[in-house]
Formats: sequence, structure tokens, C-alpha cells
Amino acid sequence: MFTVTGASGHLGRLVIQHLLQRVPASAVLALTRHPERLADLAAIGVTVRHADFADPASLPAAFAGATRMLIVSTNSPMSDAHDSHRVAIEAAAAVGVAHIAYTSAQGADPAATSGLARDHGLTEAALAASDIPWTALRNSFYAEGLAQIVARSCADGTLLFPEGDAKTYWVTREDCARVAAAVLAGTTDPSGPVDVTGPEGLSFGGVAERLAALSGRAVPVRHVSAEEYIAHLAAIGMPGPVATAVGGLTAVSPAPPSARRPIRSNGSPADRRPRSMRPCAPSPDERSTQEAALFCPAMPSGWRHGSRRNAGSVTTIGPIAT
Ligand SMILES: NC(=O)c1ccc[n+]([C@@H]2O[C@H](COP(=O)([O-])OP(=O)(O)OC[C@H]3O[C@@H](n4cnc5c(N)ncnc54)[C@H](OP(=O)(O)O)[C@@H]3O)[C@@H](O)[C@H]2O)c1
Repeated sequence: MFTVTGASGHLGRLVIQHLLQRVPASAVLALTRHPERLADLAAIGVTVRHADFADPASLPAAFAGATRMLIVSTNSPMSDAHDSHRVAIEAAAAVGVAHIAYTSAQGADPAATSGLARDHGLTEAALAASDIPWTALRNSFYAEGLAQIVARSCADGTLLFPEGDAKTYWVTREDCARVAAAVLAGTTDPSGPVDVTGPEGLSFGGVAERLAALSGRAVPVRHVSAEEYIAHLAAIGMPGPVATAVGGLTAVSPAPPSARRPIRSNGSPADRRPRSMRPCAPSPDERSTQEAALFCPAMPSGWRHGSRRNAGSVTTIGPIAT
């Protein structure tokens, strides 16, 4: 069965919606700590079971029958989520799962000293150490997250933004879900790490310019240091490791996704480097939120060059050669 863990989360639900456009409900297994939240899916024939990575003993029964699995990374604010992801990978191996996709993050690196990069890097290393074919979907930062940051960073008409002009390839959850569903369904089957990004790199300054263009008036910005900005993000409720990662976006502009250096697995050089997957732009009414769309505009024409159209689907996913 096509299996999604964390199925009641924002991303998990969206993935199942897209998966159901590709495979019948009877072939979908939705795993969650909150089965009662997925009664609507159970009603249309999706198998819904309880699964909690914090309760390893429960996983063999929960995972029974899974063939291809998406492990949605947990939202633990602590940087030890990789332990629970490793538990899930081992349980998947025990029941004979044939392929695992995992929601990783840009810059995942097991050699990083702390934070999200290390956590996702250690999970990728656990996947690499397993005998199961795997795909790490290195989702860029959610555009919805940026919309929330903007909404909470405006005081007296002035927007608080960090110094620096580094660009981020903000991507909507909806687009991440399209890619995850395609990989889970086996429509496209890249192996190892792949970057999943929006179509355009946008700095915080670029965000302010776009807001000004949309509103038709100047948007005053007060620039602060990265350290002050991280403290601000924490103060508006962002978990510490996420605040550090977002604040750190200002420091150095990442290389374009297709030019990133190879990941290291267990600290040693890997023989493959991340490739890029960019979902095609959905129609405006398919955007998860209008605010998110502001920062993740429609893909420019010509972008589809080199990508391939999946039969019977509006989604085009194009691994970009590196
Ligand atoms: N790219 C980005 O900008 C960005 C931003 C925030 C988070 N993330 C990552 O992407 C993931 C999905 O994003 P989202 O927006 O869907 O987050 P979300 O709505 O907060 O969902 C959290 C997810 O974690 C799962 N989870 C938590 N504890 C678990 C456990 N003990 N065992 C199994 N599953 C557990 C939840 O599953 P159930 O509740 O269904 O059990 C749910 O799917 C997050 O968890 C986080 O790792 C990425």
C-alpha cells in the first residue's frame, strides 16, 4: 500500500489529496497519532491506522502491508527528531517496504553541528545505511511560513527584516505535496537527495519590493542583524531551531539548487549530489493560500524546458541535470 506517515499534518493531508488523484483509495494507508482526524479519508476507503514513532512497539502492526512509504518528518522542536525517524526507517525495513521517501530540508548535512540541517542529515544517513531505495525530498522553506512571518513582523506599518540580500527558493506546501505524491506513487523515481524548490530565489528585500508592488505603496523596512532577527522570530512563536535556520538564510545566498555540493553521509563524501525537482506552477485557484502565492509566483514560461510531463496529470516534475 502507498503509505503516508503524519497523515493528519498540513503536508500529510495535502500529499494524500494528490495521491488519491493517482491511486485508488483502497491502496492508500494513512498513519497518524490522531486517527479520529482522518474520518473523512476512512469514509472514502482509505485505511487509517494509529502510528506514533515514539512508540516503536506499535509500528510493525501499523506498517503492515506498506510497500511505498512517505515518512513526513516530525515537528519536534528538539534536534533529536532523527532518532524517531530512524525508528520509523527500521520498522519500514522490518515489514519489507520497497521504497521510502522522506521530507528533508535544503542543506541537510549529518556533519552540521546542530539544528535542522544536522537532524535531517542524520536521517538521510540512516536512509543511506538501510537496504531500502530512498528519496530525500529536500523541501525549501514553505512560502506559507514566510507569509506568517510577514504578518507578524509588521509594527506601526514598518516591516522588520534582516540585513543581507541572500535569496531563498520559497515553495508552497501544495507544491511540495505534488512532488511527494508523485514520488510516492512511483510516477517519478529519483533516488537519493533531491531539492524541491519554488521557481524563484527571493531575498527579504525582494519580498518587501513585491509587497510594495502589490499594495501600490512603499513598505518601510527596518533592518536588523541576523541575531536580532532570530530573537524576533523566537519572540513571535517560531521554534528555536526553525528561527535559527530562517534567520540564517540572510547570511549566505545558497548556491542554485542544481549546483549544491554533494551531501555527506556519515561524514564521508557521497557519490551523488542532490538534484532539483521543481513542480510546475499550479493554477491560481490551486494555491494553498493567496498569501503564499505572493512569494511563490507562477513559474515563468520556458521553465518546463527539459522537464517531463507525467501522463494523465497536470503535474510536471523535472529533475534538472547537474
Ligand atoms: N520546509 C519548511 O519550511 C518547514 C516548515 C515547518 C516544518 N517543516 C517540516 O515539515 C514537516 C511537515 O510540515 P507540516 O507543515 O505538515 O507540519 P505540521 O502540520 O506541524 O505536522 C507535523 C507532522 O509531524 C508528525 N508527527 C509529529 N510527531 C510525530 C510522531 N511522534 N510520530 C509520527 N509522526 C509525528 C505529525 O503527524 P500526526 O499528527 O498526523 O501524527 C504531522 O504530520 C514538519 O513536521 C517539519 O518536520 C518544514
